[in-house]
Amino acid sequence: MMDILKGKNAVITGSRRGIGRAIVEAFANQGANIWACARKQDEAFIKDMKNIAEKNNVQIWPIFFDVTNETELKNAIQSIRSHKLPVDVLVNVAGIADDSTSFQMTQMDKMKHVFDVNFFAVTMLTQYVSRIMTRQNGGSIINISSIAGLDGTPAQYEYAASKAAILGGTKNLAREFAPFNIRVNCIAPGIIETDMGAQIDEQLKTEILSKVIMKRMGKPEEVANVSAFLASDMASYMTGQIIRVDGGI
Ligand SMILES: NC(=O)c1ccc[n+]([C@@H]2O[C@H](COP(=O)([O-])OP(=O)(O)OC[C@H]3O[C@@H](n4cnc5c(N)ncnc54)[C@H](OP(=O)(O)O)[C@@H]3O)[C@@H](O)[C@H]2O)c1
Repeated sequence: MMDILKGKNAVITGSRRGIGRAIVEAFANQGANIWACARKQDEAFIKDMKNIAEKNNVQIWPIFFDVTNETELKNAIQSIRSHKLPVDVLVNVAGIADDSTSFQMTQMDKMKHVFDVNFFAVTMLTQYVSRIMTRQNGGSIINISSIAGLDGTPAQYEYAASKAAILGGTKNLAREFAPFNIRVNCIAPGIIETDMGAQIDEQLKTEILSKVIMKRMGKPEEVANVSAFLASDMASYMTGQIIRVDGGI
């Protein structure tokens, strides 16, 4: 442990599993206090967060809301504000990838739902949290996009497009927020060993892995470590960046 996040308070979505949970662990290990956001009230999750907090001697406050539900999200913001602490970091992790369907056969409703979760929910939460960061004159926002947003991916038009929107949004907000000392960066993971990674079609996985220089999938903690660095003051001169964590493609 190097404590690169000691004294910082971070909001992390998608905390229950996968990359989000790994980010909670990495941040706690580096000394951050965390509002760990999950979709539904869940005793196992609360216990898990308590264990991570005790192990690392930090505070973790579980918060429950569906990122697409503005009422729930506003209540979550109220709850965060009620602590009367600075909000130094926001990590937008929660996201969905739908099953692969050809572009021409994909229903518009399905496309809109993917954008609701992967783009509009991130936008909504960022808007609320950035208001707090602007008032305190500082912060770091990290968005989890995907290499799909940079390179495209077969038969997941709406996933790739929603992740590309996040890349553009990151660049834009980096410019808008620089005068307020708020840095905005983005991580574009390759294929990572999570539930979402396991859903990738075997043929596609083999195809992607054949292009990965390191010839293996990534681990959630390998994405989490980069997030911890970006959130820390060690990355104080980095904003508007898209960092690929993909084993080299
Ligand atoms: N795994 C990969 O290969 C990969 C590659 C590139 C990018 N990414 C990106 O990394 C992020 C995390 O993915 P992962 O691999 O960790 O996926 P995962 O294991 O499927 O976890 C997704 C997380 O997002 C949460 N979530 C989804 N919809 C939500 C909603 N409406 N409200 C609140 N929470 C919601 C889930 O909550 P529940 O637990 O309640 O379902 C879960 O915690 C995503 O944005 C994904 O696009 C993943």
